[in-house]
Amino acid sequence: MFIHFRMFRKWKYVHLITTCFVLSIVMVCLEQLDNNVVSHMKSYSYRYLVNSYNFINESLGIGRKEASSRNNYQYLINHKDKCENQHILLLLFVKTSPENMERRQSIRSTWGNETYIHTELGASVRVIFVLGMHRNPLVRGVFQEQLWREDQRHGDLVQQDFMDSFYNLTLKLLQQFHWAHAYCSHASFVMSADDDIFVHMPNLVQYLQELEQRGMQDFWVGRVHRGAPPIRRKESKYYVPYTMYQWPSYPDYTAGAGYVVSGDVAAKIYMASMTLNTTLYIDDVFMGICANKVGVSPQEHIYFSGEGKAPYHPCIYNKMMTSHGHVKDIHYLWKQATNPKAKNFSSGLMGKLYCTAVKAFLLCRPYYLNTYPCKAAFL
Ligand SMILES: *[C@@H]1O[C@H](CO)[C@@H](O)[C@H](O)[C@H]1NC(C)=O
Ligand SMILES: *[C@@H]1O[C@H](CO)[C@@H](O)[C@H](O)[C@H]1NC(C)=O
Ligand SMILES: *[C@@H]1O[C@H](CO)[C@@H](O)[C@H](O)[C@H]1NC(C)=O
Ligand SMILES: *[C@@H]1O[C@H](CO)[C@@H](O)[C@H](O)[C@H]1NC(C)=O
Ligand SMILES: *[C@@H]1O[C@H](CO)[C@@H](O)[C@H](O)[C@H]1NC(C)=O
Repeated sequence: MFIHFRMFRKWKYVHLITTCFVLSIVMVCLEQLDNNVVSHMKSYSYRYLVNSYNFINESLGIGRKEASSRNNYQYLINHKDKCENQHILLLLFVKTSPENMERRQSIRSTWGNETYIHTELGASVRVIFVLGMHRNPLVRGVFQEQLWREDQRHGDLVQQDFMDSFYNLTLKLLQQFHWAHAYCSHASFVMSADDDIFVHMPNLVQYLQELEQRGMQDFWVGRVHRGAPPIRRKESKYYVPYTMYQWPSYPDYTAGAGYVVSGDVAAKIYMASMTLNTTLYIDDVFMGICANKVGVSPQEHIYFSGEGKAPYHPCIYNKMMTSHGHVKDIHYLWKQATNPKAKNFSSGLMGKLYCTAVKAFLLCRPYYLNTYPCKAAFL
């Protein structure tokens, strides 16, 4: 009787796993068939050309004269010695705006806490908030006062005197790569992040330390957009006219929410950015164009989210790197995700199976859900 019962359980178990497996294959296929597929077909086939040849370089290059006469924005707040005389694993830029004081404060007390990273994780990470001036001249003075006070307390703002607006994001990108080049060129890695993302710092530090030990170079990682087409609808926030970018597809690039490059790539990007027309205001696309020019291609990491928000679950926390769209819940998530018990969920064979099932359930939905890809459940 007992043996029968066990055999029954075993059979059921095999059955369950097989079903899960087949279901997941079906879902992976469904995921590929997302509704953008047609519009992406054209740009995707074009993508090969864009990535392989350098006509972008030719159409967007600017002459030496224009390059040298380009406006150089002045630093209003700066900390030139932030990196001096020390080994830096990661220089982390958080793209923020004058009014987002609360977000900066949350980041300082969670994933951006340099003291915590140093004492608990044994890594030297510099977190720097990059911003421009408030876009409304009427309140600019008031905000500037606040920013100076905030910076006196924390010493982590870097501000230039351009107007902080969506259409000036490429200026903010130049600001980051200029600063890295000028004041922290020895950092092993450079990251660019939005101020509404969550970074699982322990996972990220461990990942980067391993890469550093292997002397990783020529490295660029994040959520990769391949063969994305420029948006030609005038109503769109991301509208790009043909005069600004004439090709049917952008070169591969990583979502601007959070990506990491190695120090050598940061230097190359900086050099490339000096010779390109910067009117294209979509900063992550512009980054892709710079990288295309110097022959660097991005690699995908399934636990870097683009626009997506990770589901809350210990099985996810184990591997997650970044997740987008966290403001109010950032303290909660930080506490949950760094809880040592979260690691225990996936330990042992049963833990692994349990977590695979949970992740398949959370990530492999048949309808489009913008989070980590379904295959993350099985790797
Ligand atoms: C890109 O264009 C510039 C001039 O605009 C040229 O000097 C450079 O060699 C080009 N780079 C490549 C990789 O073709
Ligand atoms: C940063 O972490 C340290 C050490 O873990 C802690 O003492 C400190 O209170 C934290 N700072 C903030 C602003 O939360
Ligand atoms: C970008 O910043 C510059 C310098 O402050 C400003 O003149 C320009 O109007 C800004 N552009 C946009 C689109 O906000
Ligand atoms: C940059 O591109 C814009 C079109 O998007 C063009 O009007 C401008 O003249 C170009 N600048 C240079 C320096 O080539
Ligand atoms: C996690 O599991 C290990 C053994 O696998 C155990 O020693 C440890 O106490 C557990 N930690 C927590 C917080 O439960």
